[in-house]
Amino acid sequence: MAQFLLPPEPITTLDAYLASGGGRGLARAQDLGPAATIEELRRAGLRGRGGGGFPTARKFATVAGQSGTHHYVVCNAAEGEPGTFKDRAILRANPYQVVEGVIIAGFAVGAAEAFIGLKASFTRELEAVTRAVAEMQGAGICRDCQVTIVRGPEEYLFGEEKALLEVIEGGAPLPRLLPPYEHGLFATAPQTGWEAKEPEPGHPGRNESNPTLVTNAETLANVPHIMAKGAEWFRTMGTEESPGTVVATVVGDVIAPDVGEVELGTPLMAVIEGVGSGPRPGRTIKAVFSGVANPVVTAAHLQTPLTYEAFRAIGSGLGAAGFIIYDDTACMVEVARQFSRFLYVESCGQCPPCKTGSGEITHHLDLIEAGAGSAADIDSMQAWIAQVTDGNRCYLAVEEQTVIASILRAFPEEFVAHIEGGGCPLPRSLPFPKIVDLRDGQATYDADQYRKRPDWTYAPA
Ligand SMILES: Cc1cc2nc3c(=O)[nH]c(=O)nc-3n(C[C@H](O)[C@H](O)[C@H](O)COP(=O)(O)O)c2cc1C
Ligand code: SF4
Repeated sequence: MAQFLLPPEPITTLDAYLASGGGRGLARAQDLGPAATIEELRRAGLRGRGGGGFPTARKFATVAGQSGTHHYVVCNAAEGEPGTFKDRAILRANPYQVVEGVIIAGFAVGAAEAFIGLKASFTRELEAVTRAVAEMQGAGICRDCQVTIVRGPEEYLFGEEKALLEVIEGGAPLPRLLPPYEHGLFATAPQTGWEAKEPEPGHPGRNESNPTLVTNAETLANVPHIMAKGAEWFRTMGTEESPGTVVATVVGDVIAPDVGEVELGTPLMAVIEGVGSGPRPGRTIKAVFSGVANPVVTAAHLQTPLTYEAFRAIGSGLGAAGFIIYDDTACMVEVARQFSRFLYVESCGQCPPCKTGSGEITHHLDLIEAGAGSAADIDSMQAWIAQVTDGNRCYLAVEEQTVIASILRAFPEEFVAHIEGGGCPLPRSLPFPKIVDLRDGQATYDADQYRKRPDWTYAPA
């Protein structure tokens, strides 16, 4: 099985990393120069592993091509997507490849400073990546690009790229208006013609937009391997449109939740069996979600290959390949209620239709799940689903719209059964899969998420 991002034994020293071939990717990039480095990534066909699958070389080229005195690189290791643990698995297995990817990205886009953003609660990964940066800085490998590690808050929005920049600048995770390549870190140019913020000390230039590359940790971990072994090697794995491997997480109703690196193109069911040891005995899979950001994948589509094109073709999305599995004992109204509540609580409220709409949808789902709902609740939900994205600054509102609408479409009979029967026909406690740890076939979920309120405070335990 193709496996280079998750070595069988963790790499915990720079010497071991260099002995395994580490550093060769950066050396080759420096030989080639920035433009040819981006061209190599384009030929490899690497796509962003943060959720959207955007072509990585196109993003690099856009940032490299923007004018300005400062360019920055940000590695997104916030990993807030429910059902996902792959960036933490990569940082535990080999943090050096992520740091080398950051430095190559800095070289390619002309950035002298880079930031790696992780949640402050990721203590093991913070320790590993801090040590890797210190060792690589000490060895002169980070000479041309200063790498700083930023400890961020628990909020889901911390991983949203425009909010991540706000956190690095010392603010709360509230998405700004313009994308990072147009309005980057410490930008002094106004976003909308007027700006109340003072320019960042040390960056005194006026009207600088500081184009910034924000890229996921797994995406960057691929970069040194591609540069060292070449685009053709990378294309020996996966498909034409989705080359390489992906680090998939499988949690929920499976025998042994886990993380594993699989070749892109592997059928979803083979991933559920290979990584998560398959459904529990006697159970069948009813629904699979790739995080809370994509439409539900139903039992009819379990053989879908893990590629961006195949998931798009069935009306869903590969996302960050963090799969949440529900078997035939799970209530899909309860799943919708939990997903909607998570997005409502995590919404920042800068765009009123997002906060109000996700709150209203959650309220109607609460009523239906409790057996106190009626057809009017479904109508009201549908109306809010249509409006929740109005004026949205970020994609969270679209997640609420697509994931909840997809559950209503795929499982209408479960909603009818709750309304007509006056209660839940499949009462069972379903843990919400915001993963805190995942090892030895056991997933630990965040117990505090249940207490989190829509204003981001916590109810007493
Ligand atoms: C609400 C929200 C949360 C997100 N959380 C993460 C995250 O934790 N990690 C991540 O890499 N991308 C996250 N993203 C996607 C980022 O905005 C961005 O698209 C990604 O970091 C780009 O990396 P890539 O091009 O390598 O895929 C999130 C997006 C949204 C809307
Ligand atoms: S769409 Fe929602 S989460 Fe995103 S910025 Fe607006 S209110 Fe905040």
